[in-house]
Amino acid sequence: MISVILCAAGSGSRAKQPVNKVLRELHGMPVLCHSLSAFSFCDEILVACREEDEARILPLLPPNARTVRGGGTRFESVYSALREAKGEIVLVHDAARPFVSRACIDACIQSVKTYGSGIAAVPVSDTVARAEDGLATEIPPRESLYALQTPQGFRTDDLRFAYERAAADGRRGFTDDSGVYAAYVAQPRLCAGDVQNRKLTYPSDFGASRVGFGVDTHAFDIPPEYSRGIARLNLNYIVLGGIAIPSNHAIKAHSDGDVAVHALMDALLSAAGKRDIGWYFPDSDPAYLGADSMKLLGRVMEIVREEGFTVRNASISILAEQPRLSPYIGQITDSLKHALGCEAVAVAAGTNEKLGYIGEGKGITAYAFVLLD
Ligand code: CTP
Ligand code: MG
Repeated sequence: MISVILCAAGSGSRAKQPVNKVLRELHGMPVLCHSLSAFSFCDEILVACREEDEARILPLLPPNARTVRGGGTRFESVYSALREAKGEIVLVHDAARPFVSRACIDACIQSVKTYGSGIAAVPVSDTVARAEDGLATEIPPRESLYALQTPQGFRTDDLRFAYERAAADGRRGFTDDSGVYAAYVAQPRLCAGDVQNRKLTYPSDFGASRVGFGVDTHAFDIPPEYSRGIARLNLNYIVLGGIAIPSNHAIKAHSDGDVAVHALMDALLSAAGKRDIGWYFPDSDPAYLGADSMKLLGRVMEIVREEGFTVRNASISILAEQPRLSPYIGQITDSLKHALGCEAVAVAAGTNEKLGYIGEGKGITAYAFVLLD
């Protein structure tokens, strides 16, 4: 019988996420669920977690998993789960390593069966130095150095014994289980880890980029039926990227009709996995009559930031037969750079070669792509 301890009782302080990093969404499910899935074949899964996260974790657990109250350090968390582990073999795994493969887990189990322990490890790619007061006191040959990962597997009785001895000695600062085992049982055996099996620690480790696309069209000229009521007439200019551009044609719109910003907002919201601008700023709401789209963009950026994203780049393309936009591209670009807090913003403009509604001068369309980090 194989027991697994999933360490999820940290706070993820360095990751600076709105929730504990093990509960952050990654590829469509919480980080913890990736490990739950990878170890689902094991007989027993003990998830060490904080009291405040338990209500969110319980619904994620398969029938062979249960929670155990974690402690203030990783050592304490593993120690409290170890007391409950029933298997002859125990694997300890950081829930913050969601990319663990079945091959890595199997290598670990095989090593425990053969040698009594199995520590997933990969050769270091950087040269490593031991240092004191800023001086490298030792630079060991890189060939003999490994970075230790999890899972780390042991005979349960051995690891429990090591933890009990370490606790009795007041040595509770170990950052992994191989250290505890090495101090009280034997030299642990390394097995094949995986460079993909990295631990999510810093914000950039959650660097899953998200692409978003948005499009918006507005009609030029105002047919008589639109000349009363809510439609707004901008007869001398149109607004793109917050910049007023002289134009003989008006744009029919409830807001200021800034197609570039509308397309951009939909791209941003879609990349962040949110609903579209019509949902956030309905044109049935008089509050948005004649609205300054740059202000709405400011609100969209707040939503994007609340979701933990920043803009990596934005690409906007505007199609209109008139007015000529090229003299204003620089201003539009600068305005959008400022609003997005991002230098990598590109704006292109063109005509539609007299084809279709754009070519006939009936309307203007903008497309936007964004990439969020
Ligand atoms: N962990 C734990 N109990 C603790 C501290 C950490 O179970 N008291 C777990 C974490 O949830 C994580 C793993 O141990 O899955 C590795 O620890 P680390 O990467 O340091 O995570 P955190 O302690 O959560 O992050 P930080 O140190 O940035 O606060
Ligand atoms: Mg920690």
